[in-house]
Amino acid sequence: MQERKLILKTIWHSAICLAFASSIVITPRFSLAEPVSGASKAAQIRIDDSAHTFRLDAGDTTYAFGVNQAGALQTLYWGKRLRPADPIPAAKADNGTSSFDPPVNATPQEFVGWGGGLSIVPDLKITFPDGNRDLVLKYVDHKIDGNQLTITLKDIRRDVFVHLLYKADGETGIIARSARIENHTSQALTIEQVFAATWNLPASDDYRLTYLTGRWADEWNLQQQALRPGKVVLESRKGSTGDEVNPWFAIERGQQPDQETGDVWFGALGWSGSWQINIEEDWQERPRITGGYTPFDFSYLLAPGQSMETPTFYGGYSHTGIGGASRLLHRFELGSMVPQAPHPRVRPVLYNSWEATGFDVNEAGQEALAEKAASIGVERFVMDDGWFGERKDDHAGLGDWFVNPQKFPHGLKPLIDKVHSLGMDFGLWVEPEMVNPDSELYRNHPDWVLNFTDRPRSEGRNQLVLNLARPDVRAYVFGFLDKLLTENDIAFLKWDYNRNWSEPGWPSAPLPEQKEVYVKYVENLYSILAELRQKHPGVEIETCSGGGARVDLGILRFTDEAWPSDNTDPFDRLSIQDGFTYAYAPGLMMAWVTDSPNWMNNRSTSLEYRFLSSMQGSLGIGANLNKWNAEDFTIAKHLIDQYKAIRETVQQGSLYRLMSPENGEYSATESVAQDQHEAAVFAFLHSSSKGKPFPRLLLRGLDPDATYSIHAEDGSLADGTVERASGDYWMQHGVSVSLRGDFQAALFTLQREPGQ
Ligand code: GLA
Repeated sequence: MQERKLILKTIWHSAICLAFASSIVITPRFSLAEPVSGASKAAQIRIDDSAHTFRLDAGDTTYAFGVNQAGALQTLYWGKRLRPADPIPAAKADNGTSSFDPPVNATPQEFVGWGGGLSIVPDLKITFPDGNRDLVLKYVDHKIDGNQLTITLKDIRRDVFVHLLYKADGETGIIARSARIENHTSQALTIEQVFAATWNLPASDDYRLTYLTGRWADEWNLQQQALRPGKVVLESRKGSTGDEVNPWFAIERGQQPDQETGDVWFGALGWSGSWQINIEEDWQERPRITGGYTPFDFSYLLAPGQSMETPTFYGGYSHTGIGGASRLLHRFELGSMVPQAPHPRVRPVLYNSWEATGFDVNEAGQEALAEKAASIGVERFVMDDGWFGERKDDHAGLGDWFVNPQKFPHGLKPLIDKVHSLGMDFGLWVEPEMVNPDSELYRNHPDWVLNFTDRPRSEGRNQLVLNLARPDVRAYVFGFLDKLLTENDIAFLKWDYNRNWSEPGWPSAPLPEQKEVYVKYVENLYSILAELRQKHPGVEIETCSGGGARVDLGILRFTDEAWPSDNTDPFDRLSIQDGFTYAYAPGLMMAWVTDSPNWMNNRSTSLEYRFLSSMQGSLGIGANLNKWNAEDFTIAKHLIDQYKAIRETVQQGSLYRLMSPENGEYSATESVAQDQHEAAVFAFLHSSSKGKPFPRLLLRGLDPDATYSIHAEDGSLADGTVERASGDYWMQHGVSVSLRGDFQAALFTLQREPGQ
């Protein structure tokens, strides 16, 4: 004990002398999206060498931590941006209250190893080859590289280094955190658990936790619960992100938090494999959020000289409620994350044939649909499942990525040429990571799937999961996609993934490395996506997983949009889409107009209602156009024209939830352009009851002093609605829409008058 104290002290002193030699303020260059109302702020890193503190100021947020007297890295502040001269007092370890409550558990640490009596969730747990499992990490150094701050921790005895990476986004204040573990010992060690980061919140007795849960066709349900001492675990053990819980959370503070007011802390993981987020609250009511790979069935062998980097855990703070938190995330995704950031182009209106034809695709049928789609203003024609191998239904063909010669005797070229001649670009469905046992690929390579030797191989939708961690499988998948994109003029891939993992074995890997399949699979998935995009820069990709089971901030670095749900019923979609936008931008959300009655629940709705529901995101048409009459085409063309006029505002603007669809009876959203020149409001009435009028809509986010004119289809606004008024008027007095009946919808826009 005595000896440990001495060594600790020595390391601490030399580290401090080394690292705090000077006081630095760095204003990094940062790639920013269009500033919100011109209010962009640069990210700054400040280091106070006397108090031994680090401070990140970005957007409206300040994040601060420091090295305490025990050499541990301790969170000091995370919240609304402080004044530059405001002091950040030095870190001081919390001594706890008794021998049962040692400082290692009581002190809010940024990243903590399992050792020295830790009983809360560790960020890192290691087994060394000699049986030692004690790991105590202390600060040794820091480095600033551009806008990235790196803090280095080291075990008190062994040469295990942990580099903590911090990068703050100057516009939104969202901080990207990850950890790199380096083994400088002379023997391989086993990482049993490693998270990206821990976020610590101040003590408060009125926190409310929000997260998103679901299942196939019922994704993105908002769950809210009071946070109490104890632990909540959000997790996927499925091999991919999953739709049961999405790797996103928000924690609101206040007795009655609402959409637009109050403190909210939120976070999201950038990882598309199995994951875990732990929300622990201690007896002092201080939440502590730790996230990254799930430790379940996890093991990673780190050879001497090797390092491994965790996924990124993004965290942000909003002082304008959970609505403000969503808007920060939306801006961050579009401005700093997606492949086309900081200025993603508006999403084209697409047509997809899946609900019209199912697997029954062929040249003549697709061309006929393409002609009809072009006539209403569709810009992208996407052929879905069924075009390859022996794919007549979902029993065969997956893995055989050659064009089916009966359905397309001349290959894809005639169809693609036809689509181009109609003024649209062409997209194609693929499901690259899967194989049907009834396929050439599986017959030739039965060892390519995830499996345990001599154990059953459980199927889902008659398919097995290819083990993308294997270099030969990675080469095959990249190879066929590269060939497909090289030989055909394809602008878009809908990249599907239709089951979870089972029997996650990798028998051909050395035994101590077999569980690395969870990490290496996803790393190869990302590297394929990155390499394809680099080689075919014009190609856009949609992430789809039988609906919304693989949407996260990891895959969104390589994909341009996401399919939120196979449920395309326009009423169900109101709440599905509402949930989606808590974490992800409306512009990333593909939304199709499909047939009525809907296949999912046999509900009948008007074409206008279906359009208005889908126009809240990135608009697609998935209906069987062969069944439409002339009036349907006229309505569709008109609404698509209307959508194109407002889509930039809807897809990339600021979203305000005026009334949640969870209320049952009504809902409304408002999107405001980044420069506030325009707003688009969508209002939905589920079912009129007892003559009750639709509640007046109090708008948000407008320039209060500017004059806006209001525009709507005849009859959608209440009699007496004025034509023009100040932004303040529309926000304070509001707008009355005249909706009556069942499944009714209205759209109106506000335009700022010229010269304002
Ligand atoms: C998944 C997708 C659907 C469709 C089918 C095709 O279920 O979510 O949109 O592409 O696969 O098999």
